[in-house]
Amino acid sequence: MSNSPIRVGFLGTGFIATYHSKSLRQAGASIIRAGAFDIDTARRDAFCKASGHQPLDSEEQVIDSADAVYVCAWTSEHLRLVEQVVLAGKAVFVEKPLAPTLAIARELTNSIVKSGVVNQVGLVLRHSPAYLLARELVADRAAGRVMNVVFRGDQFIPIQGYYTSTWRSDVTRAGAGTLLEHSIHDIDMLRFVVADVTAVSARSTNFHGYPGIEDSVSVSLQFENGALGTLASIWHDNLTRPTQRHVEIFCEKRTISITGHDWFGPIEWHDADGSSGRLEGDELVSRTAGLSYTDANPDVAFIRAVKDTSPAYPDVTIALRAHEIVNAIYRSAEQGGKSVATSD
Ligand SMILES: NC(=O)c1ccc[n+]([C@@H]2O[C@H](COP(=O)([O-])OP(=O)(O)OC[C@H]3O[C@@H](n4cnc5c(N)ncnc54)[C@H](O)[C@@H]3O)[C@@H](O)[C@H]2O)c1
Repeated sequence: MSNSPIRVGFLGTGFIATYHSKSLRQAGASIIRAGAFDIDTARRDAFCKASGHQPLDSEEQVIDSADAVYVCAWTSEHLRLVEQVVLAGKAVFVEKPLAPTLAIARELTNSIVKSGVVNQVGLVLRHSPAYLLARELVADRAAGRVMNVVFRGDQFIPIQGYYTSTWRSDVTRAGAGTLLEHSIHDIDMLRFVVADVTAVSARSTNFHGYPGIEDSVSVSLQFENGALGTLASIWHDNLTRPTQRHVEIFCEKRTISITGHDWFGPIEWHDADGSSGRLEGDELVSRTAGLSYTDANPDVAFIRAVKDTSPAYPDVTIALRAHEIVNAIYRSAEQGGKSVATSD
């Protein structure tokens, strides 16, 4: 365990880098804000002015300046940047999706795993109080077996509004559309709360017309514990609807729903004996405080893992499994909805 503060660097200083940088305020004196680089100098400078990071002129300089590096560039740059970070033996936080394709996600995963560096991915909902409680409610014997789940994830296509960037309409940089870019979180939460997914059948469409960027996907899911489910993933143009998820879980003796905010709920449940519950906001946060992996804040948890040289969570292998399922969904959609095993 290191007593010195962890020097944190950023590669890519856009929307999600800003989110992590603000969240790292909770790490207090356990970090030092080291270098940051973006190919867009104006973005880099605005980020550094707001966060206190040092503006640097290259990826190498940032890696040299830091003990732990956040890779927050657009998706097609993740592999190249991650390889440089792990070659230098530095800890890495890499955003989701790992890569534009499953093959490249595998390459990235192998590179990190072989290096042995502390690593964490941006599947931040694994730290969400609402999903942590849903997982506990599903696992409770009193709920009976989980039978079915209806999961909807929608948002306005994020090439407008407060995203202020357009790369998500470019398949060479994003890899694909709403399923890979947005609903990889949803697939990960379905695994986290229900069980691993064994087979999928899917259809997808493309209303906006950006080549390779699907914007409406419906999936039928088979889980390894026998449950069934459906996922709808949509990128629309309704700017009054930023990211929204709505989840209904049907167990033999309990129904659970998460509506509203991804983190703060509300989450509501109703049992066969007539009892029910509802939690949101601070009450939900304090109820789930003991359920998080080391710290409720994913960025503070990452810094703690780097300090202790202990495994961070969720790591790249968890993200790779979500990629495998996403890939099976795309293969099913290409075949007009044919059932595809996620082990293929
Ligand atoms: N975990 C989440 O919930 C979440 C949310 C949003 C975005 N993301 C992911 O984070 C990544 C970035 O998304 P964003 O919304 O921040 O995009 P963004 O456009 O706001 O920021 C990306 C930045 O990367 C920069 N960049 C590109 N190549 C670079 C390089 N080689 N070196 C340094 N900078 C480079 C761009 O100039 C841009 O400023 C994507 O992979 C995205 O899928 C994750």
